Amino acid sequence: MGDFREELERTRKEALEAIESAEDLVHLEEVRVRFLGRKGRLPLLLRTIRDLDPTERPSAGQLGNAIREELEAALGKRKLELEKGRLERPSVDVTLPGRPLPRGSLHVVTQTLEDILSIFVSMGYTVVSGPEVELDYYNFEALNIPKDHPARDMQDTFYISDQVVLRTHTSPVQVRTMEKGPPPVQIVCPGKVYRHDSDPTHSPMFHQVEGLVVDKGITFADLKGTLTVFVERIFGPSTPLRFRPSFFPFTEPSAEVDIQCVLCRGSGCALCGQSGWLEILGSGMVDPAVFGFVDYDPEVYSGFAFGLGVERIAMLRHGIEDIRLFYENDLRFLMQF
Ligand code: FA5
Repeated sequence: MGDFREELERTRKEALEAIESAEDLVHLEEVRVRFLGRKGRLPLLLRTIRDLDPTERPSAGQLGNAIREELEAALGKRKLELEKGRLERPSVDVTLPGRPLPRGSLHVVTQTLEDILSIFVSMGYTVVSGPEVELDYYNFEALNIPKDHPARDMQDTFYISDQVVLRTHTSPVQVRTMEKGPPPVQIVCPGKVYRHDSDPTHSPMFHQVEGLVVDKGITFADLKGTLTVFVERIFGPSTPLRFRPSFFPFTEPSAEVDIQCVLCRGSGCALCGQSGWLEILGSGMVDPAVFGFVDYDPEVYSGFAFGLGVERIAMLRHGIEDIRLFYENDLRFLMQF
């Protein structure tokens, strides 16, 4: 019985000390579990009462219960103190330095798009937009590409139905804009376009910027001057460029614009297919047949149009070799820009 009492007293003392020095509610709960929990020190000790002499058991039990009550009261008191203290102490240490928030930035394709648009806006162009899900009429027919014409094969198309497509280029916005009113017209149209096309330099979804200028007396010299200024401003003043004869059903004559390969500087490499040149856009003088669809008189008005690939320009400006990197959302890539 002597040992039992001594152990009981030691447990009581240690428990009271632990309760007193608990600094917060989490700590206090740990103390409670340690001394009063199901496998805590006091219950384990009380279980040894059955080993005592039967005559000693009642008083041992009473003593044990009295100590349990004392410890429970001390726990309750300390809990109140800690809760009160928590309310009185500020929960935020206002003297700590702030945590920096990671800052996002615009996607490199968006940055390139904005740079392209601001060059044209500075030349007096208005920015317009058009639908990505487009009528066959605007995407092809009114651009002088009739049904069953072989020129449709130039663009592998996603058809929604017979008459509705995901636009394969931004050129339908030329027709939509001219339908809205008479010349003069001077617009650029940025947007997503879709083609059944996929390799390191071709993506099934990519961005184009269309340009259209129509007025009296617009000539190929205007087209050439405008696109030369554009290339010099986006790639730098001494970037060599060339106009290469091409074909589009909605322009006549047509030209594609190439810039000198940014990687090999014209000597020929894998990026430029050993040619020394890289294509960035298609362009030409608006075909009179297109004016026919929007009731513009081709005897009075003339115009030029162009369509450039935004990803292509971003790749050339930054030396990016695979177009798919733009859409993988890998921050290690994106955070470089
Ligand atoms: C056209 O889309 C014509 N609408 C351009 C045009 C407009 C000509 C106005 C005349 C007058 P093209 O299919 O060549 O043309 O595409 C234009 C540019 O888009 C290309 O120079 C290239 O930079 C980019 N491009 C084409 N296909 C892809 C693709 N799958 N992925 C990424 N960029 C592409």
